[in-house]
Amino acid sequence: MVAVILPKLGFVETWRAEARSLLQRGVPPEAVSWRLDGEGGDLFGGFDMDIQATCKPIEAPRIPAAFLPLAEAALCHSGPERFSLPYRLLFRLQADRMILQDQSDRDVAALMAMEKSVRRDSHKMKAFVRFREVGGEGIRRRFAAWFEPDHFILERTAPFFARRFADMDWMIVTPGAAALFIDGALSISPCEGQPDIPDDAADELWLTYYRNIFNPARLKVKAMKSEMPVKYWKNLPEARLIPELIAGAEQQVQAMRTAMPTLPSPRAERILNRVGQADTPKTDKTPESLDEARTQARHCTRCDLYCNATQTVFGEGNPRNPLMFVGEQPGDQEDLAGRPFVGPAGKLFDAALAEAGIDRAQAYVTNAVKHFKFEPRGKRRIHKRPDKGEVSACRWWLDLERQFTRPKMIVALGATAAYAVTGDGEDIIKRRGRVERLEDETPVFITIHPSAVLRAGSPDAVAEARDAFIADMTRLASVFSDLGP
Ligand code: URA
Repeated sequence: MVAVILPKLGFVETWRAEARSLLQRGVPPEAVSWRLDGEGGDLFGGFDMDIQATCKPIEAPRIPAAFLPLAEAALCHSGPERFSLPYRLLFRLQADRMILQDQSDRDVAALMAMEKSVRRDSHKMKAFVRFREVGGEGIRRRFAAWFEPDHFILERTAPFFARRFADMDWMIVTPGAAALFIDGALSISPCEGQPDIPDDAADELWLTYYRNIFNPARLKVKAMKSEMPVKYWKNLPEARLIPELIAGAEQQVQAMRTAMPTLPSPRAERILNRVGQADTPKTDKTPESLDEARTQARHCTRCDLYCNATQTVFGEGNPRNPLMFVGEQPGDQEDLAGRPFVGPAGKLFDAALAEAGIDRAQAYVTNAVKHFKFEPRGKRRIHKRPDKGEVSACRWWLDLERQFTRPKMIVALGATAAYAVTGDGEDIIKRRGRVERLEDETPVFITIHPSAVLRAGSPDAVAEARDAFIADMTRLASVFSDLGP
């Protein structure tokens, strides 16, 4: 047997080096025993002569690019096969490069399941770490948090917090290891026990925020428990409110039903349009600035959608070389508010950006089509996808937005946006994750629309789609930052 002992921290890098060396020596997976430093193992491990005789050295081992991210996640899994399974697959890959495509293969299926579980755990950590201010003497504020992950994800997830909370000093303590971020430098060290972290004033803010965003009409206790598993509640200040909010939910729903806004009356729509138009006379002059374009768009009659929509919803955000997000068209709530992405899809979009460390205020957010297209059903207005003619008519405004903001990169959210931006109507699922180039070389990152996440189906499917969308946003953040200033 070859016994490989990995350090408790930095085990991914050490595993990689060890796996490469074992492969080069041709050591078969069944002859390797992996363990962490300090864990019990085979005292008689060593490279014995019998094994050496059966090894066929591999001079240049092949490590397919798709294998590494899967393996690196699986190595953080808490199961007993975390080190041996990736090595077994790596060994098998030397003879059959295509195994990873075969999801019915037991090793491949197990590796994927481990990767998924680690990825989800990492998302949970990003969502549920709650920092508490712990005081300090320097200029930078100091925070600490306690978190209990299912897997060994601290090292892979801590850089997210370093990007997101770069302007404060903080410490995240988990059972066995702590991440420390001081003056912009991140370090991970072993530790024992749970520190006593006091409550702070920020807890009150969380409670207020959570009370305000809580929507009793959307309360699905089972789904909530799957999204925010009960095991995390004890460290979440807002969880204290959950029993109280659940208990009062039915009453609140009743009150909301009574006060529910219905279809805005046609008169209200006309009033809103007039309010916008009265102080902005119609002109045929080609806009010379973003503000002029926004003002003129209020009168837009380039297609018929203006007839039923409440108002034009123009883009908003940073007008200087931003990261430009393009959605499809305003929804019901955007139509009433006059701002893009403020409804349910917008909330999901905001949360995904926050998790990926993207600041919405630094982006410019707009839609391919600026008026809400819908079909009345009773008192409700049901979203209807804009057709190609409507998208083409509205491109006038999108082109002006691009001309005046000169985005460094455009993100097309969904098929309509991808078509509006690139002129290419190819299947969005095939294009997802690609960075395409426009004629002027502007890069376009293609992903799905956040409302597709909300429509994914069961709570599990929604959670999975949300994770995948966040992964897209995280990748986007890194592609965007690679573009430089
Ligand atoms: N969907 C969109 O595409 N845009 C919005 O502004 C809201 C929902």
